[in-house]
Formats: sequence, structure tokens, C-alpha cells
Amino acid sequence: MTNHLYNKYVKNMTLEEKTAQLLQLAAPFFDKPGEHSEITGPMEELGIQYETLRSAGSVLGVAGAEKMMAVQKAHLENDRHGIPLLFMADIVHGFKTIFPIPLAIGSSWNLELAGQSAEVAAREAAVSGLHVTFAPMVDLVRDPRWGRVMESTGEDTYLNGLFAEAFVHGFQGDDLRNDLTRVAACVKHFAAYGLAEGGRDYNTVDLSERQLREYYLPAYKAAVDAGVKMVMTSFNIVDGIPATGNRKLLREILRKEWGFDGVIISDWASIKEMVAHGAAEDDKEAALQAIQAGVDIDMMTTSYINHLPELVQEGLVDEKLIDEAVLRILELKESLGLFENPMRGADPAAEKEIVFCGEHRQVARKLAEKSSVLLKNEGVLPLEPGQRVSLIGPFANSGDILGWWSWTGSKETAVKLGDAMKAASGNPSHIVIAEGSGIDSISEDQLNEARKTAAKADVIVLAVGESSDMSGEGGSRSNIKLPEAQLELIRSMKELGKPLAVVLFNGRPLDLHGVYDQADAVLEAWFPGSEGGAALADILYGKVNPSGRLSMSFPYSVGQIPVYYNSFRTGRPKPEQETENRYISKYIDIPNEPLLPFGFGLSYTTFEYEDLTLSSEVLTADTPLEVKITVKNTGLRAGTETVQLYVCDIAGQVVRPVKELKGFRQIELDPGESSEVVFRIDETLLRYHHSDMTIRSDRGEFILYVGASSRDVREARFTLVK
Ligand code: NOJ
Repeated sequence: MTNHLYNKYVKNMTLEEKTAQLLQLAAPFFDKPGEHSEITGPMEELGIQYETLRSAGSVLGVAGAEKMMAVQKAHLENDRHGIPLLFMADIVHGFKTIFPIPLAIGSSWNLELAGQSAEVAAREAAVSGLHVTFAPMVDLVRDPRWGRVMESTGEDTYLNGLFAEAFVHGFQGDDLRNDLTRVAACVKHFAAYGLAEGGRDYNTVDLSERQLREYYLPAYKAAVDAGVKMVMTSFNIVDGIPATGNRKLLREILRKEWGFDGVIISDWASIKEMVAHGAAEDDKEAALQAIQAGVDIDMMTTSYINHLPELVQEGLVDEKLIDEAVLRILELKESLGLFENPMRGADPAAEKEIVFCGEHRQVARKLAEKSSVLLKNEGVLPLEPGQRVSLIGPFANSGDILGWWSWTGSKETAVKLGDAMKAASGNPSHIVIAEGSGIDSISEDQLNEARKTAAKADVIVLAVGESSDMSGEGGSRSNIKLPEAQLELIRSMKELGKPLAVVLFNGRPLDLHGVYDQADAVLEAWFPGSEGGAALADILYGKVNPSGRLSMSFPYSVGQIPVYYNSFRTGRPKPEQETENRYISKYIDIPNEPLLPFGFGLSYTTFEYEDLTLSSEVLTADTPLEVKITVKNTGLRAGTETVQLYVCDIAGQVVRPVKELKGFRQIELDPGESSEVVFRIDETLLRYHHSDMTIRSDRGEFILYVGASSRDVREARFTLVK
């Protein structure tokens, strides 16, 4: 190794110092070394010395410029090589200014705002002393029982890839070394964590290599191609081997095929957990597998620090592997400019001005406006300013609207729906608020109060949903309906016979029985973040026309899961007309289709699609096709439409999905205005993984769909000639 960092540092480090560089521990260990940690146990049991800890390579979860600077200073005083610590944390959808959850951002289909949200998050995190964020999470998700679907942008490979790229650019910018307002990004969880069986967190993942490569890997690859600095392994197994010890995944695919030369970090304790998986006999073997697979940093266990020196001495691990891991970590530190400036962006004075500033909150508000999805509207929304509104439900004036992964945000400063509606209505006395129920409890008194309030109203707005800890890590649910108490509240409000609008706060697609059938209007707010109430009030009063489109299907019921738009055709497809035939692929009790499909969302205006034309019916490798369609705003308000392009390969060498998203355009149209939308289809767009894993296209006939959702489409056909 001729690298200058090798010559300056690695060459002069003891084996113990090198392995300490590979250790990452959480903040409390740096403050109070005797304290406990939930997963790793008491410090004494870790069997490491405080001195060793002081020479660790990175720390997780320290926030705040002053704190960070104190920890860095103490560390540097102790580290004989003067190697600064890296400060990492989960800044997933904002630091103090909290943006809508990523699943909501996915529903915006707005890459520019997504990128801006990451840029703002980076700015706040960097000035508070952070260097790396554990984001973006780009796991493909098809099972809403899994609580972590809220961290993903959804069920589509192509869309997730675009968001991955936008987030990475937003976090990192173009010049990480000199632009101190950015942080390094860490894409996660590599790989296929979203496929946990039964939607139960940390559970088994088992999928074919073709599924893995075709659907699950591309979004991580998009992040790598965008220059992401780090990759985090996942908790699950892939083809029987924990991702953290999976050589094929890390060394072959990630490093060799994709050329990733950044830092690979385990997920929290996932090296040690290889023992619980039954993939390693003990901690030492787990360390051996992880280092051989290519994991550089051990997050929150002592597997590396306690066993790597011994493994080297026994000749089981080549010290070169450790040198390489250390070098990659040092290169990351260098790329952040830490050797010259170990405090980097940390600045207590600027922190006070920048963090949660008005400008940042504006971006959060805009994104919350763009990510809410109008799911149903039968003449109730928007509200009229003069209407008397009864706002009822556990979210009527709640600050629990930030969602999971908002540990640095504050619920107290979140803009609550009730307060914002009072401001937006122009007449605060017209909004009367009642709690109606708790998240999962309801009392006669609450119900009576709600009925009394609602009796005087022209319209009832019910703000209901899941508390933020019902999704996120460890937040799997088997029943994804609203809790019974809230369903009861909805039923009893329905009995009053007044117009009923529901605003939903939740971290996953729900089974909407008892909601969709009862309400006249349903607005999906997700967890909209710090400015959520303000954005929603503007939507409810029509100052903003909702434009979100679902990036994950809402199942008819839990029995359909996984249900997603780009499924394969079966040999016995269900015909469109009713049939007596028993022997077709269907349920005898529920529809095959989800309640609300991918790409779906309503507006306060309407759009019409006409004149779908192709420049040719034949496509060849060097003559792409042009697809044109005219979209007209046929309603009375200006609105944003997301025009979606899907393709279906009618017969492939391996079976192909019924539809696959290949492009989209967002257009803003005034009432009566039309616009011609043009897509280009070239041969590369039709390629996929064949049975031998080569990526190529098949000649033959294709169907092309253009429309307002994966269900609402117009079609045309073309042939690929080779
Ligand atoms: C565990 C989670 O799976 C991961 O997403 C997160 O980044 C780490 N903990 C660190 O907090």
C-alpha cells in the first residue's frame, strides 16, 4: 500500500489501535463509560478499557455542536496519532426541522424537494457536529405490516432509485471536503431487509437471485452510482447467510461488480447477531466472517475489538484486511476534511441560527403539502372558510406528527392541525376541537363530548391514525387497521349524518376498512413533520391543491399482502368479467386488487388524457420511440398531475411484470389548460435480468401504458425489432 494515509497513520499503528479504529459505539459510552446499553450490556462485560474506547474510530448519536466538540477534543488529547473521530447519526427525514417520513416523500414524486430536504437535514446536522447520516434507507417494501416501510420511498424499484440518488446528492453535495454544510450519506440496509417474512422485523428473508438483482438491489446501486460514501449491512440473511457476513453480497456484488470503495458498516450489533442467527459458533467466528466479507466498522459490539487481534495472531485473518478497512475509514475522514479541521462544520453560534430556521421550515411545509395524498373526496373538501368545523380525534391537536426517526426533532414545536386550521379558517371560533378518543382507548365521556361538539358543526373532520411508535423499527403489526377505539369513534360520528372528512396520520399503508367506507373524504397525511399542521390546514381549506400519489399500494385487507402493482401474471389470471370458474387465481372472499393502487391520488381538480400517440410502432436499438399524450385540466382549480409511464413485456425469456414504471412527469396546469407530455422509450429501458443474470432486452411485442396511476391507464403497443 503506497497510500499517504497508510504511510502516515496505518503503518505506525499497533494492531489494537487499528481494530479500535473499526469500532463504533454510541454516545453514552463516551460520556459515562460505566453505563449500560440495551443491546451490548454493561461496559464491564464488554471487556474493553476506557482507553481503548477513547481511540475508537467513530461515535454514533452525539448531537449538538458543543457536545460534539467536547468529545472530539477529549478524543484527540488521548489519541497518539491525532486521528479524529467520525460522528454519525440517523438523520433520516430531518434533524430538528423534521420533514415528512420518507414514505410520504415517496408519495410526492418530487425529486427536487426530496433533495432539498436532504440538503437542509445535512446543513442542520453538519452545524451540530455530525459528519455522516445513516440515510437514505432504500429498502424496497411490499409488506405494510413491516413498521419500517415508513423509512422507504415505497414499492417501486425505479422510483426508489431516483429518490436514492436525490437524497445522496442532497446530503453530500458535490464537494464534501470543502462544503461544510454537507454530510456523508450511508445507504442502507444492504440488502433486501424490506422482505422480512410476514412483515416481522428482523425476520428471515429468502428470495431468488433474480428477484434480488432485478428488484431489490437497484436502489442501493443507484446510491452507489451517485457516490454514496458508506453502505450499511442489513440484519437479515440473504440466501442463508447474514448480510453482515455475506461475502457474495459485499465483496462480489458491492465491491467488485459495482466498484464501491467506501466504508461498509454493520447495522447495530449485527456482527454479534450472526451467532443468534446460527451462522457463527461464537463471537469470534462472527468477527472472522464479517471482516472476510468486507465489513469495515463494527457498530455497537465488541466482536472486532475483542477478537480481530487474536484472529490475526492465529493466522486466521490476514492483517492486510484490517489495514484496508482502517484505510477506508481514514479516507472517509480525509474526504470530510477532518484531519485539517476535526471540528468541521460544528459551530455553536451558527447552530442557533441555522437549526430549525424559518427557511428550513418552509421546505418542510412545502414537502408536507406535496406528499399528502387525497384518497377519496365526495364533495366535502376543500372546506369553505365560513363552515363550522368540528375537529375530532387523537390527532386533532397532537404534536405526535413527526414519525419515527425524529429523535432530534421536538413534538412541542410541531405545527399542530387544530392550531393551523384555526389560523387558516379566518375565523378561529369556527373550529371546535375534541379529542374523541385516545390512540387505542375511548371513553363514554370522550364520545359524548365529541358528539356534542359535532352536533353544532356543518362538517366533521376526524384526525385519526397510528401513534408514531406503531411504525418504525420494531413496529411490526399483524393488524393494520386503525385501532378499534378510533374505528368506534368514526362509526359514532358517521351516525350524526354530517359530511365527514378523515385525515390520516400513519407510517404505513393501512387496511382502511371502517374508514374509507365511512368517510366522504380521506386525506392521507402520513407523518407530515414539523410543519405538518400548516400544510394540512392549507390543503383542507383549498389554499393548496393536494397532489401526492401513493408510492405503496393500500391493500384491500391484510390477507392480500404482499400486494404490489408490478406483480407477475399467473397461468390462470382472473378475467375482468365475473366468472363461475373456481380454478383461477383469486380469493373467494376478497378482490385480487389492492384498495388503492400504486400511483393513485386525487386532486381538487380533474385531468383528462387524450391523443396517446407513438412516433412509430417499431423500436430498434438505435431508433427510440417517442410517446406523446395530451393532459388537460378539466376542473376549476389549478393542479399538479403526475403523468406515469408503464411498460409490459408481453412474453419474455423469463416472465415479466404486468406493468413496470419507466418514467413520469409532473405538470402544473391551470383550469382549462392542456399540455403535451412526451416520453422517450429506448431499448435500454426494456432490459432486465435474464435467467443467466445477463441484462438485456427481448425482441417482440410490448404494451405501453400512460396514465394517472398504475390502474388508470391508456395503452398502445409497439414491437422491439433486433
Ligand atoms: C438500527 C437500524 O436498523 C439502522 O437503520 C440504524 O441506522 C442503526 N440502528 C443506528 O441507529
